[in-house]
Amino acid sequence: MDQNEAPLLDALADYHRLDRYGFTPPGHRQGRGADPRSLEVMGSDPFRSDVLSTAGVDDRKSSGGYLSKAEELMAEAVGADKAFFSTCGSSLSVKASILAVTKGSGDLLIGRDAHKSVVAGIILSGLQPRWIRPQWDRDLHIAHPPSPEEVEKMWQRYPDAAAALITSPTPYGTCADIQKIAEICHSRGKPLIIDEAWGAHLPFHDRLPTWAMDAGADICVVSVHKMGMGFEQGSVYHLQGSLVDPVRLSQCADLLSTTSANVMIYAAIDGWRRKMALEGQAALEKTLTLAGNVRTGLDALDGLHVLGPELVRAEASHDFDPLHILIDVSELGISGYQAADWLRDKCRLDVGLNDHRRIEATLSQSDDDKTTARLLEGMRQLIDAAPDMPEPAKVELPAPEDLEMETVLLPRDAFFGPVENVPAEEAAGRIAAEQLTPYPPGVPAILPGERINAAVVEYLRTGTAAGMVLPDPADPTVKTIRVVAHQRDQ
Ligand SMILES: Cc1ncc(COP(=O)(O)O)c(C=O)c1O
Repeated sequence: MDQNEAPLLDALADYHRLDRYGFTPPGHRQGRGADPRSLEVMGSDPFRSDVLSTAGVDDRKSSGGYLSKAEELMAEAVGADKAFFSTCGSSLSVKASILAVTKGSGDLLIGRDAHKSVVAGIILSGLQPRWIRPQWDRDLHIAHPPSPEEVEKMWQRYPDAAAALITSPTPYGTCADIQKIAEICHSRGKPLIIDEAWGAHLPFHDRLPTWAMDAGADICVVSVHKMGMGFEQGSVYHLQGSLVDPVRLSQCADLLSTTSANVMIYAAIDGWRRKMALEGQAALEKTLTLAGNVRTGLDALDGLHVLGPELVRAEASHDFDPLHILIDVSELGISGYQAADWLRDKCRLDVGLNDHRRIEATLSQSDDDKTTARLLEGMRQLIDAAPDMPEPAKVELPAPEDLEMETVLLPRDAFFGPVENVPAEEAAGRIAAEQLTPYPPGVPAILPGERINAAVVEYLRTGTAAGMVLPDPADPTVKTIRVVAHQRDQ
């Protein structure tokens, strides 16, 4: 195939060139009726390109086949058998993948450091999660992807499970030994799903961690908006081999997705694939060099430590993506929450992941010396300002074993059954009926169906007091927790 082509982009260009007009949604009619203030703030271009996919960019029968051609080009560019575009984020793609490998009931092996969208897939599917222990770093309080040995152990305990699902890279950039894990799954004839939401760029440079399809995974989900350069919500799920039925997979996505896909999200994925296929290796080479310089520059600043080698070692992860710049600010006597708030307030800089002692900046190919100079300058100013900041509130960090609570009820039953809200101090021993997820990174500390323990409640209570954000529980302040009502909780 000719990777120079971008069929969706070309079709959108034709739509404009031919002056098509639809008596169809979207009702703003390419901006004609849009709110003037919206036009002033966003410009007219987003409205102009917001057109229908079928009976819009393509005809009512999709006879141009632009979307499927764009997906074929993507699959070829990254070496998958098939690629499917989604406009509902990896959140949809992981749910569709979970539904596709199961038959509506049974077990699924999942690394416990899974994103909340994976848990949502478990709740919706009614499956029994069998949690695979991640590699906990007790000193850094970080979970790395599970080792192949842990995966093998879980297959021995649950040989009938439908599949295994592993997150790699994690939001910290640490990666699993996907090749070995895939071999273990395949020796039992079972598929491996990799949640590679943070790995859209991996196929396009040989010095980045191995991309899941090359390592033998069956399904791999990526967010194009995270480490790629598409619009928010753009995701691709890739498939290879014969263990997962492609029709089932796309029909499961169809169950969950919108019938009004945003063409701009599709077109941006198409354009990004074209750019990466043509110049990804060279562009990423520059970004890797930039990342190396930024890492060295930040690490040389007094009071900062950029995590690197300690994230890749026998008891930690198999590999690491250096574009995740994870900065420990604890020596400054402040928390990651304080650092993130201060950088936004005083330097107009936002960072991604933040926790009791770290912040993380992710670099993309859009960054250059100018953008990273802002980061370095912001961090220098933060170092100067830190002595005047209040002492951070102490977060009571649980031991890894405390984070592995027993799942005593199917997450679906716990979530949808009768619930009650109890004071947090009375929650220990009760079965959770909701997710409580520190965000970012979005890995739930408590899941529906788990028997809550006091250490995790204390972590979340002290965490929120220190600046942690929990977007999903009924009471984000964690004064109360939603648990399974007593008559079902035995
Ligand atoms: C590991 C992981 N999986 C899935 C998702 C969901 O991705 P999206 O935001 O594209 O829906 C995220 C988002 O942060 C994530 O970190």
